[in-house]
Amino acid sequence: MKKIFKFFISVIIIAVLFIIANLIWTNYLKPVEIPELSSISNEYGTTIQSEEITKVYEIYSQKIDSDEFINLDVNSYIDKLIEDFKNSNSKIESIAPKDKAVLKNVIDTYKVNDSIVSLRITTIVKEVYGEYFNTSIKTFNYNLEDKEKISLDKLFKYGYKDKISDIYSEDYLLLHNGIEFYKEKQNNTCTYNLLKEYASSKLLTAQNFSISQEEYDKLFVKVVDKSKKMVAITFDDGPHSTNTQKILEILDKYNARATFFMLGQNVVNNKDIVKDVYNRGNEIGIHTWDHKQLTKLSSEEIATQVEKTSNAIYDITGEKPRIVRPPYGAINDTVKTALNYPLILWNIDSLDWKSRDETKIVPLVMNNVQDGDIILLHDIHATTVPAVEKIVSQLNESGYQMVTVSELLDAKEYDTTKTKVFYSGRQ
Ligand code: NI
Repeated sequence: MKKIFKFFISVIIIAVLFIIANLIWTNYLKPVEIPELSSISNEYGTTIQSEEITKVYEIYSQKIDSDEFINLDVNSYIDKLIEDFKNSNSKIESIAPKDKAVLKNVIDTYKVNDSIVSLRITTIVKEVYGEYFNTSIKTFNYNLEDKEKISLDKLFKYGYKDKISDIYSEDYLLLHNGIEFYKEKQNNTCTYNLLKEYASSKLLTAQNFSISQEEYDKLFVKVVDKSKKMVAITFDDGPHSTNTQKILEILDKYNARATFFMLGQNVVNNKDIVKDVYNRGNEIGIHTWDHKQLTKLSSEEIATQVEKTSNAIYDITGEKPRIVRPPYGAINDTVKTALNYPLILWNIDSLDWKSRDETKIVPLVMNNVQDGDIILLHDIHATTVPAVEKIVSQLNESGYQMVTVSELLDAKEYDTTKTKVFYSGRQ
């Protein structure tokens, strides 16, 4: 009997010890389990590894060391991730190691060509006591030449961009063979070939993707067909709180684009409209801050009028305007020297500001228009809107492509570093 009793006691003691050991293991010793996560591609810059381990969380983070503007963007995104993660765990003091919160991220970099670099940050996060890791993806695409982010707006024709982002999402990565779109945990690669109908960007050019011009022509439909006639419609003095929007609708209806020479003082009061003008693929030019006649100003005042406006536009669109239209078309040598921009005048004046009458505006334009013309209109006058509807529809019917001023000058192969003043695309 005693032997059996001793045996049972031993079994119970072992069992209790086992339970205690197990409790100690799970509560004090067992480490948090972190899934494997490593970079796939490192084609640009270097990644810097760091870790921070506390009683409540573990952070294994990568940051990028490449160009300053890329570092700033990408690393501040990562800093924000980490800050948010820490804040959400700041109230907990101590926890079993296995229940710790975890944040881990890796960076993949792709050097698509000489001008395009793309980065993907994959982050996995587990909350305290959490059992699952949530994965999130953030992408960055840069044009190394102008040190700017590449937005889908710049790559695709208006309308198609929206279609693409409906199907996928705002996160996309330019890769060697195509664009990868991310939606939730899914990703989908569209080859450049598949996207050819939508593309509009000069970034996606033949030399960039080391394919021949011939192949490129097959891949991408050009927005501007150099062999067809074209005009640049321009609108001055806006944006206007209601007229500009109406004009945008008309332009879209006929697949037309135009150039809006804006006043800085109107830009800051109509930011949503500025954004919309830009997003729909139109060009925004500078028309000074408050419509000053530049020939009456000093070089410094001229530069201030233009740069202040340029910055206001840049703050909204993320792109600096490339062209200036001097108010009243007034230019002299001081203006030409003070400004490092092509100065865009016009060769067809609709006199819309004077007549305020569509029956006069429309024939003035339509009876004189030729390939390469630059047409002057004003989106601040309500009477211009119905005239625009007629002009755009008639130009469309006559086979004109309605392009932006920059597209016109590019298509007509002007060197805007050599020629300063433009009246039309056929001078
Ligand atoms: Ni004006």
